[in-house]
Amino acid sequence: MVSMAISIQEASHGADGRYPEGGLAFPHRDLTGISHLARHEILYLLDEAEQWLALNRQRHKRAELLSGLTIINAFFENSTRTLLSFEIAGKRLGADVVNMHAATSSVKKGETLIDTAMTLNAMRADAIVIRHASSGAVQLIADKVDCPVLNAGDGSHEHPTQALLDALTIRQALGLPRQSDLNGLRITICGDILHSRVARSNILALTALGAVVNVCAPPALMPAEIEAMGVTPFHDFDAALEGADVVMMLRLQQERMSGQFIPSPREYRHLYGLTLDRFGKLPAGVLVMHPGPMNRGIEIDSQVADHPTRSLITRQVESGVAIRMACLDVLTRRARAVPGWEDLGSAEA
Ligand code: CP
Repeated sequence: MVSMAISIQEASHGADGRYPEGGLAFPHRDLTGISHLARHEILYLLDEAEQWLALNRQRHKRAELLSGLTIINAFFENSTRTLLSFEIAGKRLGADVVNMHAATSSVKKGETLIDTAMTLNAMRADAIVIRHASSGAVQLIADKVDCPVLNAGDGSHEHPTQALLDALTIRQALGLPRQSDLNGLRITICGDILHSRVARSNILALTALGAVVNVCAPPALMPAEIEAMGVTPFHDFDAALEGADVVMMLRLQQERMSGQFIPSPREYRHLYGLTLDRFGKLPAGVLVMHPGPMNRGIEIDSQVADHPTRSLITRQVESGVAIRMACLDVLTRRARAVPGWEDLGSAEA
């Protein structure tokens, strides 16, 4: 069993808050959350993804970096964007990619999460991508298996590749070059902050990159002491939107709610929806994001979601493939014996 992180000599890696020039080794075996990443590591992953954005816009979208490696996508919860983009990312890098859907697996016969993980491990996967409804399930698996584990969303905890793709999308939309952070950019995140792993990972990533983040939700959907994450909470959406450069709308996570958290969808839309009327009152440069899947007509109106220049929603999906290619490349470099790993010494946490 290999432990989660790879110890490094801080003096030789990122001590000055920058990624070492030309450095190829990434000082983490897994990507379980943004909370484990330093600012310069987030920037490194964004920078690495840019080459894949360019490749993915070509007719021939194939590199052979991961040729001979096997990636297993184990999804215990539904997904369209994350599952497909991890599959496309692995295939475009030349890996053999296998998808395990819990609904059609032996999980349905009562197999435990750990037994499932050990089964995938015994098949000698070179990376395992996991989505699970329980917060912490991905870390549990990462602690048991021998290969890199990537979190594709665990309960209400984290969705790190979503936050990375969102930051990349913003950087691209603003025309910011490599190594740019988001210093001073004002971002308002509105919706079900309490249950949202997207909100949590985005707050961690955006604040690490210097953005000023407002979060807005009905009182019942706002986590206690959210200020400790370096954001300003609002219950009044119009107040939360003042001065925003980017508005990120979130879905109501009905599947994680027990009981009534909002009075009615209609009232929620009136108070917290990015309606066409509310959008029309924003300055012309304000950009709109949504991780999907959307509840059109509840948290966002269709005319806003489909705005040809100010909605970044389809660009977020495009960035998702590039970010996941970057993460798969970077986290498998050790298995591929990419030169540079010797700089980090042996794997041990
Ligand atoms: N944004 C996101 O995680 O979408 P999926 O649930 O479709 O993967």
